Amino acid sequence: MRILVIGASGFIGRHLVRRLNAASAHDITATYRSRPPAPDDNAWRQVELTNPAGLEHVFQQARPELVIHLAALADVATAEREPERAAAVNVAATSEIVRLAHLFGAQLLFVSTEYVFDGRRGLYNEDEPPHPVTQYGRTKWQAEQQVAKLATNWSILRTSIVYGWPEPGQRNYAPMLIESLRQGQPRPASPDVYRTPVYVEYLADAIAKIAVRNLTGVFHVAGADWVSMYDFARSIARAFDLDERLVIPTDSEASRASVAESPDRLGLHCEATMRRLESPHPGLQEGLAAMRAAYP
Ligand SMILES: NC(=O)c1ccc[n+]([C@@H]2O[C@H](COP(=O)([O-])OP(=O)(O)OC[C@H]3O[C@@H](n4cnc5c(N)ncnc54)[C@H](OP(=O)(O)O)[C@@H]3O)[C@@H](O)[C@H]2O)c1
Repeated sequence: MRILVIGASGFIGRHLVRRLNAASAHDITATYRSRPPAPDDNAWRQVELTNPAGLEHVFQQARPELVIHLAALADVATAEREPERAAAVNVAATSEIVRLAHLFGAQLLFVSTEYVFDGRRGLYNEDEPPHPVTQYGRTKWQAEQQVAKLATNWSILRTSIVYGWPEPGQRNYAPMLIESLRQGQPRPASPDVYRTPVYVEYLADAIAKIAVRNLTGVFHVAGADWVSMYDFARSIARAFDLDERLVIPTDSEASRASVAESPDRLGLHCEATMRRLESPHPGLQEGLAAMRAAYP
């Protein structure tokens, strides 16, 4: 199958491309903007999403049957500070990708986020109405609406906080925490902020399954455990035989004052998706054990 992976140089994208390469002999075109990967068997193309002509050129080169769109301005604080750039990258470019996917007759899988929900209750189902309260969440929700309204053959996959080993030059919460704890440095974590952390290899596997089987609709792929960031951090410490007492609970009032509209109780309920994928639904302990076993 001819597959175009947009945003393949990112944290999730690199794992996904490896997963697709391992699964079967797909013909993969993969895009990056600023972080070119080392040469491999895939056709890597540089693209700036806000340049429609460049994007169209990549589609012409790839002639995709399937497009997996992961590229985004995905940092919540940056999107808040730079709302116009967030809208250009996350919404306008996604509209263009929807148009091009339709033009080339390709199915489209769009990767989205739990931030489309407001974070007041947590553990949201696939069919609950989104209500974003951050600029990042708003732009991803607007992009989802473009996909659902205008694409012919589409799926939207929302995920929660993703953990795993990053490539050099990338960052991820879990390895950064492990590094601090190894050096005996205390790390604060919030007991009030809830997520459903998912191991990146499980996520990559689910993205590949949904895309290659051409399943359509809205999917939630996250871990089975709904935990506070404090419990997540302590679980990481335990899984890596580090001192969990170095994880210090943050003062929730102080952290809330610093981010006016920070959605605290996110996390995704994934039962309907797991039934459709006929997949087991691994929790934190299993994911962290797999991460430890995959130490690079
Ligand atoms: N990581 C998480 O915990 C998480 C959780 C929920 C949802 N998501 C969603 O999953 C997707 C991938 O996340 P990630 O963690 O892999 O993100 P990431 O590491 O920040 O990667 C983002 C990707 O998008 C590309 N990109 C960004 N701006 C671009 C632009 N203007 N033009 C062209 N390419 C651009 C980047 O290219 P370069 O790096 O080469 O510049 C990179 O390939 C995003 O859509 C995000 O919303 C992630």
